[in-house]
Amino acid sequence: MSNDRPSDQDRPNLEQGAAPNTGGQGKYPPGYDPVTHTYTPPIGPDGRPIYPPGYDPATHTFKRPEPSSAAAGCPVDHEHRHEYQHVPPALDADGDRRTMIVTGASRGIGHSIVRKFADEGWRIITISRHAFARNSCPWEAGPEDHVQCDLGDREQVPLAIIDIKRRIGQGKLHALVNNAGISPKGPAGERLNSLTTPMYTWMQVFHVNLLAPILLAKGLFDELKAGHGSVVNITSVVGTRVHPFAGAAYATSKAALTALTREMANDFAPHGIRVNAIAPGEIITDILSPGTEEKFLPLIPMKRLGRPEEVAELVHFLCSEASSYITGEQININGGQLL
Ligand SMILES: NC(=O)c1ccc[n+]([C@@H]2O[C@H](COP(=O)([O-])OP(=O)(O)OC[C@H]3O[C@@H](n4cnc5c(N)ncnc54)[C@H](OP(=O)(O)O)[C@@H]3O)[C@@H](O)[C@H]2O)c1
Repeated sequence: MSNDRPSDQDRPNLEQGAAPNTGGQGKYPPGYDPVTHTYTPPIGPDGRPIYPPGYDPATHTFKRPEPSSAAAGCPVDHEHRHEYQHVPPALDADGDRRTMIVTGASRGIGHSIVRKFADEGWRIITISRHAFARNSCPWEAGPEDHVQCDLGDREQVPLAIIDIKRRIGQGKLHALVNNAGISPKGPAGERLNSLTTPMYTWMQVFHVNLLAPILLAKGLFDELKAGHGSVVNITSVVGTRVHPFAGAAYATSKAALTALTREMANDFAPHGIRVNAIAPGEIITDILSPGTEEKFLPLIPMKRLGRPEEVAELVHFLCSEASSYITGEQININGGQLL
């Protein structure tokens, strides 16, 4: 899963100074919220934000220090070490390891989702077109649990399902996050509207953004049922109104995914599987078009773009017991963009 961009993988330096917002544990820099993994910098006397060492304001990431549990004040528990990071595995009520699938995990929102769930001790099976890249994906079992698949290829998706079933081995699937999505532009980067979108593009977009989610959920139905699983479909703010950058095929595929979420929730609920959607607004990832910030900051009441890790927190909520009676919902995460 190669990625040339700086990833959102990195957390603040645990060796840094006092942390007024973390109970004075001294683990996090001021302004960092370890619950949401977000960072709001303090403002200096000149009115400019003050960033701590290692923080990159362009990508909202910290350069990760060398992992050292002892330095963070946590003794290493060798008995509960597992293949991702040195956190205890997340177990379900039967004592089975919580297992999930995330599509499009190589960068952006998907990458943040994997980091969040890895930190929580889940086993994560990832899907994307590219091979696993050790240098940008710090979860240990990645190469063994990565499925290389083009979700736009109707012949590859069934093969990926067979591969995943083999990996799970008639076990449980506790979550399926349909995150991969594409938003093609014209040759000069222009928006493709309903008159200018080529037929091939319509079909490719709908296969990746709409059909792959239902093919995966249906193909892995038995495993999801066994795990009382949660399906989360990543839709978009563009499903409800015309957007200056997102094209007609993308927007309509996301609107259809919202409708599919509703249908799936109704059909899967009797089998103990919840299905919900998350509709992000403008989140800082590769998918954004140049000029997004200039265009949208005046329109977003919170006056900033969203961060992938903020979406990941919401995905985790929808895959946890905390949301056990929520199904068929779409939750917006957009800083108030639709108000
Ligand atoms: N960022 C936003 O502002 C925003 C707003 C609304 C909704 N969303 C939605 O959020 C989801 C994640 O978006 P993002 O911003 O994180 O996008 P991104 O940075 O462009 O990442 C897209 C991911 O999808 C994978 N992918 C793309 N085509 C694929 C294919 N044919 N088969 C398998 N994997 C494929 C990519 O991996 P490979 O290249 O390795 O295949 C990559 O990991 C998408 O569904 C997007 O529509 C994003």
